[in-house]
Amino acid sequence: MLTLPSIRAFVALTPLLFSLSAWAAPTDIPSAASFYIPSIPYIHQNAEHPLRMYGGHLSADPNQALASSTDVTPHLYFFMVKNRRVADKERIVFWFNGGPGCSSFDGAMMEVGPWRWDGKSDHDFYVKEGGWEEYTTMVFVDQPAGTGFSYTSTDKYVHTIDVAQQNLLEFLRNFYLVFPEYKNVDTYLAGESFAGQWIPYFADAILDSKTLHVPLKGIAIGNGWIDSKAQYSSYLEYALKTGLVEENDKKWKEAKHETDKCLAKTEHLKENPMSIKECSGILRALMESDKVVKEKKMCVNIYDIRLEDTAPACGMNWPPDMPHVTSILGQQEVVSALHASAHPGAWKECRTDVHRAFHEETSESASSVLPRVLSKIPVLIFAGDQDLICNYVGLENMIKALSWNGATGLGTVQTQSWTVNSAPAGTWVTSRNLTYAKIFNASHMAPFDVPHVTHDMILRFMGVNFTAITDGSARIPSALGNDAKPIFVSEHEAKPSAVAPAKSPQQDKAMWEAYYNAGSAALVLVLVFLVIGTFVWCRLRRKRTVQLPENATEESIPLTSSMRQGNGIDEEEGLVSRKGKDRARDNGREAGAASEPPIFEVGDSDDEDFKDTRTK
Ligand SMILES: *[C@@H]1O[C@H](CO)[C@@H](O)[C@H](O)[C@H]1NC(C)=O
Ligand SMILES: *[C@@H]1O[C@H](CO)[C@@H](O)[C@H](O)[C@H]1NC(C)=O
Ligand SMILES: *[C@@H]1O[C@H](CO)[C@@H](O)[C@H](O)[C@H]1NC(C)=O
Repeated sequence: MLTLPSIRAFVALTPLLFSLSAWAAPTDIPSAASFYIPSIPYIHQNAEHPLRMYGGHLSADPNQALASSTDVTPHLYFFMVKNRRVADKERIVFWFNGGPGCSSFDGAMMEVGPWRWDGKSDHDFYVKEGGWEEYTTMVFVDQPAGTGFSYTSTDKYVHTIDVAQQNLLEFLRNFYLVFPEYKNVDTYLAGESFAGQWIPYFADAILDSKTLHVPLKGIAIGNGWIDSKAQYSSYLEYALKTGLVEENDKKWKEAKHETDKCLAKTEHLKENPMSIKECSGILRALMESDKVVKEKKMCVNIYDIRLEDTAPACGMNWPPDMPHVTSILGQQEVVSALHASAHPGAWKECRTDVHRAFHEETSESASSVLPRVLSKIPVLIFAGDQDLICNYVGLENMIKALSWNGATGLGTVQTQSWTVNSAPAGTWVTSRNLTYAKIFNASHMAPFDVPHVTHDMILRFMGVNFTAITDGSARIPSALGNDAKPIFVSEHEAKPSAVAPAKSPQQDKAMWEAYYNAGSAALVLVLVFLVIGTFVWCRLRRKRTVQLPENATEESIPLTSSMRQGNGIDEEEGLVSRKGKDRARDNGREAGAASEPPIFEVGDSDDEDFKDTRTK
């Protein structure tokens, strides 16, 4: 694959080559093989669980052809992992994390992707069950440009939603040029948090496009930030319901005061902007705590109210896998294996500069385009019930007030109980193309806590014919109300249905090498297990249960406390001033931005002390 620096080197070296490459440029579509990733260091593969991976940069600039050879234009990074089992048909999901400015490697490495941190080492990750790539090709997209491994010059950071839409459409256009086999495959957009704004807008642009024909069949949003008016005004109700506050206690009074201030602002506001300055104090009031542990001020983890954290992080460094994700994605050989080397500087979970560049306060909430999307395709809104920042009460209130397909709210349809593997998983209700699933005992990152539940959820939403699946985790029993999955044939009758191997000989060779390496790794593992025996096994088991605490004492364990020490976060600085300082800085930056010459910066100047409060 031609990366940007290599194009530049060409230009500098010989005018002859320059003219050749200029001539070749318009039709120069990189081959799919150039995106192929045979293996990734520290990701321990398993021959039983083959991963067919692709990744790299694609232009997202609709005006790329007009750009000069020295311009650094928006390029979005994607990481794709093909389905490893065949369901009733092929499907592809494009996944987006939130922010704005948070990388979709969160989704790939902690939520719906094929592997997880091993819970012990610095950066060893193992493939495991529960990822959505089992039956569905997953494409994790870092957007807008500047996020994760995506890049552009800082003067081209996205400010408005329509530019984000155009960039995404251009990215998709290029994606289909490289992977034309997906042009007619059932397509879904999914993601979480601030992607609750991106996804409906992206769907709307795709459904509206006259030139790009994507067979979009649905969108799924987890703990999304979709309607700021409805969601701000529901914080207090959620806090009361879950016992974070009690009526008339100190915290309730503070949050009530902030809520009133917010409502006074929004009452007369015709618009429903994605972010409202006057409302930001509510969440802050709710996460604060008087508790001090070992001289550290504690607060609520805004992504999982069962957990405590130290101020001012309050969940920003959670989950505990986070530093290990950063560590592995910081390894040079990993970056190069991912074909991400064209991105200068280190990977960061969330980029403050990208967040600040986006004009949330003047962009209309995505709930405004949701009805148009619902008139054309099904929408799934799901919510882990332990999340505070984008909590289920706010989403339920949004749905109650939303008018779509000829009526307002869900109407008289019955909400069904939903069980997975014989345990209560949540509730499920569908009305006029809108499905709402509430997920029990799950955080903001619901697939992190309950991967098999969220996998069952997406398979159901996509209308997978369970009878047609002969093996894999789709056979885990589940039911909506009395409507249970079909009873499956016994295990030994199930036929293996691994998908066809990759096409080109190099790819085949690379894959077999990957298999071989995975095989040796597996052998070493077996030996290690023989030596250490059940001790390790028990620890792995325990690790899993820690993520889903079962009693009150465990629930209050601050999972991230040990990770946070020495990571450079200024714990002294108060939340209020931090947020305020950022706003001030933001304004200053914007005033100065226009006069700055276009330079290729990648935001390494990101301020460590700023933690935005709607990330992931
Ligand atoms: C729902 O989505 C389908 C496509 O799945 C579409 O044909 C239909 O018009 C939409 N509206 C309603 C009310 O079902
Ligand atoms: C589901 O798959 C089974 C087995 O392949 C098939 O007999 C059945 O017709 C399919 N159902 C639908 C609704 O397509
Ligand atoms: C999960 O949530 C349900 C419903 O809120 C509750 O009854 C159950 O006790 C929870 N289970 C655990 C393990 O916390």
